Parts: sequence; C-alpha cells; structure tokens
Amino acid sequence: MKRLIISAVAALLAHSAVFSASEIVVNAKKKGAEVQPTMYGIFFEDINFAADGGLYAEMVKNRSFEYPQHLMGWRAFGNTTVLSDGPFSRNPHYVRMASSGHNDKHTGIENEGYFGMSVKSGAEYRFSLWARCPDGGTSALKIVLADNASQSETQEVVSCRLTVSGKEWKKYTAVMQSPVTQNKLTLRLFLQREGSNPMVVTDVEHISLFPVDTWKGRENGMRKDLAQALADLKPGVFRFPGGCIVEGTDLATRYQWKNTVGPVENRPLNENRWHYTFTHRFFPDYYQSYGLGFYEFFLLCEDFGCEPLPILSCGLSCQFQNRHPEAPGVHALLDSLDTYIDDALDLIEFANGAADTEWGRVRAEMGHPEPFNLKYIGIGNEQWDYDDNPAYTARLQKFLDVLRKAHPEITYIGSTGPGSEGKEFDMLQPKMKEMKVAMYDEHFYRPESWFLDHKNRHRYDNYDRRGPKVFAGEYACHGKGKKYNHFNAALLEAAFMTGIERNADIVHMATYAPLFAHVEGWQWRPDLIWYDNLRSVRTCSYYVQQLYSHYKGTHVLQTTMDGRVVAGDDDQHGLSASAVCDDKTGCIYIKVANTSDEAQTINITLRGAKHLSEARVVTLGSADTDAENTIDNPSVVVLQERAATLSGNVLSDVLQPKTFAVYIVR
Ligand code: AHR
Repeated sequence: MKRLIISAVAALLAHSAVFSASEIVVNAKKKGAEVQPTMYGIFFEDINFAADGGLYAEMVKNRSFEYPQHLMGWRAFGNTTVLSDGPFSRNPHYVRMASSGHNDKHTGIENEGYFGMSVKSGAEYRFSLWARCPDGGTSALKIVLADNASQSETQEVVSCRLTVSGKEWKKYTAVMQSPVTQNKLTLRLFLQREGSNPMVVTDVEHISLFPVDTWKGRENGMRKDLAQALADLKPGVFRFPGGCIVEGTDLATRYQWKNTVGPVENRPLNENRWHYTFTHRFFPDYYQSYGLGFYEFFLLCEDFGCEPLPILSCGLSCQFQNRHPEAPGVHALLDSLDTYIDDALDLIEFANGAADTEWGRVRAEMGHPEPFNLKYIGIGNEQWDYDDNPAYTARLQKFLDVLRKAHPEITYIGSTGPGSEGKEFDMLQPKMKEMKVAMYDEHFYRPESWFLDHKNRHRYDNYDRRGPKVFAGEYACHGKGKKYNHFNAALLEAAFMTGIERNADIVHMATYAPLFAHVEGWQWRPDLIWYDNLRSVRTCSYYVQQLYSHYKGTHVLQTTMDGRVVAGDDDQHGLSASAVCDDKTGCIYIKVANTSDEAQTINITLRGAKHLSEARVVTLGSADTDAENTIDNPSVVVLQERAATLSGNVLSDVLQPKTFAVYIVR
C-alpha cells in the first residue's frame, strides 16, 4: 500500500509540469509601442504562375503571339501564317488566317490556356480579339470552348460567332455562358464564311478570354476567389512585384514598371525567370504578359485599404546568377544609373503626381485621376556587397542622394541581402544604419530548427533601437523532408511572430512569402494560397497571417512569464505569447502559441484592466503536425472559436498541444 502511494505521488510529480498552470501577465495599464498600420502585409511575386495563370484572370496563354516561339500555347490548323506588322508596336505579331482551298479543310487556331481552361456552370466568359480583313470584305469566326478529350457526341462545350469586317483593325467582343463546370478545355477559333460571301483572309491579334465575374467586375480583372483571399487577410501593406523578378537574370529582363502600364494590348512581354530557374521544375511557357501591372497593383492596394510598396531594380541584376559586380550588360555601372533612378522618380509621379504631369496623365488616362498616395519604395530586392566592392550600397547611395532630395516624403527601404544572418547580412545591417536608411528588408526562409532556436525567437528583442526599422519582407518556415505547408510550419511561424508583435517599435512591416502557387505550375513551396483553375485553398500559414492581421491592435502590451518575455524558453513550457490592445475596438488581443506536446493550463492576468466582461478564443490547432489543407481537402485545419473563462481580470484556459490561440477580451 505504502509503495502504491509513493508511486502515485511520483507519477503526479512527474506530470506536475503538465498540470501546473503557466502564469502569464499582461500589463494592461500601460500602452507600449504603436503597432504600425502597415502590419501585416502580403508579398506578391509572379512565381508559381501567380500572375498569368493565377490572380490575373486572363485564360488565354500567349494572347499576343509574342512568346519567342510565336505559336507556343497554340495549335494552328489549315492555312495560317504569323506576321509581324500588327497594330500594337510593342506586340507586333499576329496570325493571318486564309482559306485552305476547300470548304471542308478548316483554318483556325486553338489555345491550351494555363493548364487547360476551366469553366463554371452558368458563368459567363468574355471573349475578345482584335481583327481585320486585310483585303476588305467580311468574314466570320466561330469561337468554341472545346473538350478535346470528350467521348460524347461533340467536343463543343459552348460557342459563339463573330462577324469581322473591313480593312481596319477593330476590337470584337462576345460573351459565352457555360452550361457546365469543366476543366481542361481549349479555345478554338475557326475561320468561316459570312453568309454567302466567299471566304476572306482574316487577321487576328490579342485573343483574350476572361470570366465576366472578376474581382470588382473589372474587364482586365483578377480572379475573384484569389483577390478575395487577399482581401480577407486585411493586409496593411502590399509588396510587389517581387522578388527576384525585379532584378532580372540580366538587365534586359528586369521588371520595368513602365512596360506594365497603359493599354494591355501594348504592354510588351517579358520572360519570367521562374520558367528556367529550377530545371527540376521547368516551365518553358512561363512569361509575363504584364496584364497585371503596376496600375492594377495600385488598384488592389486601394481595394484592400493597404499601403503599396513597390520594389525597384537598383541596377544590379540577380546576384545569385551574376556574381561579377562590374560585368557589362549584367549590372548597370555606377555612372550609368540615371535610367534606373529616373524610373523611381517617374514612378512617384505615376502614383502621386497631378493628372497633368507626364506620368500622372498615364494614370489618369487609365481611369484614376486621383493619386494613389505612394509612401514607400524598396530599392533592390536581395542585393549585397562584396569584400572588395560595395556593389549594392554604392548604387543605393546614388538612388538615395537623388530621391531623398526630390521626394523626402517617401520612405526608402534598403536590402540586407538574401539571408537573415551570415556574411552578407552582417556586412549590410551596419551599413544601413550608417546610410541612415529608414527601413531595411530582411529575408528568411528557414527550417523548423531555426524557428525553434532560442536566439531566433528573441531575434528582435535584441535589435539596435537606434538603427533602421525592420521590414521582414520574405519569410516562411520550411519543413524538413517532404513537408511544406504542413501545420507545424504554421505553428512555428505563429510562435515566432509573437516576437514580431512584441517588438512593434522596431518591426514595421512583415510579409510572408511567396503568396500564390498553382498546383500544376509551382516552382517554390511552401506558399500561402494554392489553387487550380477553379478552386483555391487557404493554408495553415494563411490562417496564422490572418489571425495576426485581424487582431493586430494598435499598441503592444508588455507580456511576461516570471518577469521575462514569453518566447518559448526552456522553462516556459513551449509557450510563446504577446499581447496588444486596440484603441478602436476597446479589446485586448493575446496571442499564445503552444508548441509543446502537452496541454497547457494558462492563467493570463490582465493587470490594471477594469470592467472586463467577455473573453473568446480563436484557435488553430492540430494533433497531427503534418496535417495540411490541400486543394482537394481544404478544411483539414481551420479556425475554431469558443468562449474562454474570465474571472475578474484573470483569463484561464487549457491550451491544447500544438495550438495557436488568440484570446479576445473586452
Ligand atoms: O519568394 C521566392 C524568392 O525568394 C524571391 O523571388 C526572392 O526574393 C527570394 O530569394
């Protein structure tokens, strides 16, 4: 009996770590640093078919026949020729269709779309093209959405007819309504006679198909579900257009914003480096049409109520691909940066200038006479210096000298290279301070072990408060083995982000990366949102970002356990925590991540808080840390909401193992 009692006590003691409550104290009496309205943000780069084939709702690939292989994405049949004196100077190629000499031998072209075209039952699709009959006369085009794999009577899913007349190029439009939901269709155009007229030669250019129901109903529009997923994040800042594509593999292929504005028909094609960067995920048909360009980015920022943050080329093309800083044609030499700096000046005019300025007029003509109110610009993406050559900072200084003088109202953001530590970072971080850069951009794609490391959990606790502010411009937890968007990565991001939140005085922006990935066309993972042509899925990491964003509050509240910040230290039971109050709602939001394998009883004392009446908790948790939301199974790990126990100013709860929780107290 005595032995039984002893072993029962021993068992109890062994589990006392599990059952003893963790006491967390939130000082609700004193508001700390202001949480910047730019928290938490989104980072868009055209990687993983994020623009063409993704957010940008265009369904036709190579609509202007400008890919280097002019018929890439197309199949031509009958009597067709590609010509190059078309109506759009920067997209000069088009297709000429002529009779095959016999009524039954058809002439036409067929587009495969991005991983096929997909339609929804009852939805309308707007077809358009530019066309002419160069020898005069009138012809007809039959436009068919076809299911080439169909075993039924017909391949035709839906079709329409357009009459083309006259020698002048004109835009023609028709709307088709799909009777079915179907994937993997093609868009086929047949040249036909109009009435009893003879078959006449017909030229076609800029062939386009969009769902009518785009985000905000815009004709050059975005996919509604994907734009909605961004809106639902309530982002504070929107960083675009990259990423490495800003820099280019060489200067000629850098992202040039001026090519992305004005009528879409005349925006020139650019290659996309993600077509060839990884040969194990090779997409030779990946280009940038620029249909989603800077004007559309600014419009999205306005829609989402967030700050636009363009990143511009600093004259260095991708340093991973081009190591020599003075290689001509690859990097702009120090004394030839004017074009690059002018691009930045002109961008400010495009965004903020009056409608009668050169670039303000372009914006106004596109439909937005009011300025976009641009406040931030990043100069360079992942750039760095070498021991014997200040490749980046010398160029950055040239930009800053001109821009600061011309536009002191803008915040300019520098780069600290491709990593969160290591040679480049250690070299650049102090330089950014010397150069009095207002904010710098840090990137960290790191394994789970990094996110669990004590030093990294305390990363921002120890930052120099007299230096620049931080923009965590690209970050994500990368799982080991074949784990990508699994729950554990999201949980560790959540735990790490408590450190971002409690250091709001220094971290002013943070954007998870990358944002989007097409399930059939990705090059990089994990990503925040995945999709195929009809569906999309919000990952576990998405929900973490959303929770931080929705409950970002206005001011940090000091949060401690035994007098120390709660950052998952050895004696803190796998808990990381931070808290904010919100002047607008009057609520206090406490974020707690339990990365341990044990349920944790927590008591959160809201010191100094009065008249508290209600506590709720939203959780994201999974016993299976490998669980993930997929396109076919999108709701494996989702947010749950319940009431929490409040007694006076003490909130008590049992937080399940492997769970992230946001407590909302009012
Ligand atoms: O987000 C993917 C890539 O990662 C970005 O293009 C680049 O900035 C980083 O290396």
